[in-house]
Order: sequence, then C-alpha cells, then structure tokens
Amino acid sequence: MKRQPTDRSPIDYKNPKVRREILTRQRRDIWTPEQVESLARHFRLRPGMKVLDVGCGHSYALRTWGRYCLPGGELVGLDREKSLLATALRLCRREGIAGSCRFVEGSAYELPFVDGSFDFTLAHVVFCHLAEPEAALDEMLRVTRPGGCVAVFDNASAGGPAGGWNNLRRPTLEQRLFDHEMYLRMHNGARRLRQADFDVGCRLPGWSEQRGLRDVDARSNERVRWLAPPYRSPAQRTLLRSTRERVRDFKPGEYTDQSWLDQVRAGGAGETAIRRCRRGSRRDRERWARAVRAGTLAFAYAGQFWCVWGFKPGKQRG
Ligand SMILES: C[S@@+](CC[C@H](N)C(=O)[O-])C[C@H]1O[C@@H](n2cnc3c(N)ncnc32)[C@H](O)[C@@H]1O
Repeated sequence: MKRQPTDRSPIDYKNPKVRREILTRQRRDIWTPEQVESLARHFRLRPGMKVLDVGCGHSYALRTWGRYCLPGGELVGLDREKSLLATALRLCRREGIAGSCRFVEGSAYELPFVDGSFDFTLAHVVFCHLAEPEAALDEMLRVTRPGGCVAVFDNASAGGPAGGWNNLRRPTLEQRLFDHEMYLRMHNGARRLRQADFDVGCRLPGWSEQRGLRDVDARSNERVRWLAPPYRSPAQRTLLRSTRERVRDFKPGEYTDQSWLDQVRAGGAGETAIRRCRRGSRRDRERWARAVRAGTLAFAYAGQFWCVWGFKPGKQRG
C-alpha cells in the first residue's frame, strides 16, 4: 500500500446533521439544472459510459451526471467513509438506478482500479479536503481511459466576490473589510492546519494543463440565491423552508465554532478581533431567527465553485 497523506478535515461526516446540511442541502444550491445539462454536454457523456465519482459522499454528483451514461453505463462511487456509502446506495435506489451503481470504500490516493478503467472520472468538493490534491488528480488520470474526461469541481473562494446582501444588516465599509479579513484569515488558517483549501478550484486549470489534459475548460457556478417576501415562487418557498431549517439548527457552540476558532487563530486573528466577530455573528443569528419568524427576511448571495475538466490524451471511443 502506498503512503497515505494525512487529511485533517474539520468536518465530521459521521454527524447526521453535518451530512444533512453539507451533503444534501448545500448540494441543491450549487449547480442549476441548466448547468448540469450543459456540463454533461461538455464532458461528452453518453449512455453506456463507465463513471467513477471519487469521494462520492451521498453520491450527489454520481447521480446527477451519471444518469447521462444510462442505460448501459456503470456508475461507481468511492469514499473513504464507509458509513456514507449506505446512504449513497439508498438514494440511488430511490432514483431507480441502483442496478447500475456500485460503491467501494477506498482512498482517493490509491484508487482500487486498473489503469484506464473509466470513461468519466470526477471528484465533487473533495479536493479542498485533501492534503495532496495533485496526487489524487494523478490517480484520477491513471484510472481514466485515453480520450476519457476528468472533471474536478471545487471551492474557488478567491475566484469571485465573497459576501452578498441581506436586509438585516447595513455594514459600513470598515465592517465589510473586517468581515472579509476574518473570512480570509479563516481560509488561511484552514490551509495552514492542512484541514481544507477553499481556493483549490483556482489551481485546477493550471494543474490540468500541466498534466497534458486536452481541451481544458472551466466554469464557475452561476446560481445566485435570493429570497424576498412574499416568497411567491416554488423556488422561493423551497429556499425559505431550508433557511428555516438552518436557523432552527443554529446552536452557538456547536460543531463549527471550535474549528472556526482554530482556523482564525491559525490564520493570524487576534483575540480582540475574534471576540468582535463572535459577538457580531451571535447578533446576526438572532436577527436571522427573528426575521424568519416574522416573514421579513430577504437576502441574495452566490457561492463560488468551479468545475474544471479536460480529456486524457489518446484515442476517443467511437
Ligand atoms: C464535501 S464531501 C463531498 C461529497 C460528495 N462528493 C458531494 O459533493 O456531495 C467530501 C467527501 O470526500 C471524502 N473524502 C475525503 N478525503 C478522502 C480521501 N482521501 N479518499 C476518499 N474519500 C475522501 C469524504 O469522506 C467526503 O465524503
């Protein structure tokens, strides 16, 4: 067995609440149906293809893009966390595609497949957690057949404007600079602690070119989430429902807090700044809860994810 790099994600994927929030709710927010469609065309997906989803979690990406390879295709999900794979299979069953799916426990650094096994190899929001993402990319390339597509989706926080707008707070320029500083310190700290790299998406196009992938291309996610009373459209009502659930789940001191503290400290934030930030976020949470109850909340924001893909040099299949 090869030496396995030590990944130290601060996220506990065994925690059901974390799983619900990150692997289910947040997934609805990233790619629009139009983008899913157009990316499938860019990846040149066709029925009969064999697909690998590295770090599949609950199989969001496998189900989303794998269905373009059905019927006749084979969809394989791999994750190092065995407990996630049972849910992944259950969700595939619910969508009626379980007969074409297979799940394997394993490591992104040592994929248990022979060279050239897959037509399409993807990783969706996994690289940000890897201590050695380039080693994982090499493995993905190895198991992809010549002419096959390799696609990596991930956070690219430095690649676009952070923040957004809501009707609960009118920050001054100084407050916005402070918020942004703390945001950058958190990212910097997470990287220093080797827990996560939320800018990894920005590095992917260069890494793909360096490895000789053909027709390298990239897209960022285009979705802007916005909510405004009277929450008339079905999309608004869905977003309001998930915002309500999120607000209901807010509990200061829960899982995010300690890891956030470790990260901002490692990123160089002083204790005064940390206290100011925590006070602000407590007040924000209370305001959000009140506005949700009163039905007055409005906001608009965009996440920053990139998808970078390319084709392994070699002959393409018919
Ligand atoms: C943010 S989740 C993304 C899950 C899924 N791809 C999605 O987008 O919903 C990251 C996933 O990567 C998996 N993972 C992290 N490091 C891994 C490694 N070295 N090998 C295999 N899986 C890994 C985690 O267990 C987790 O399921």
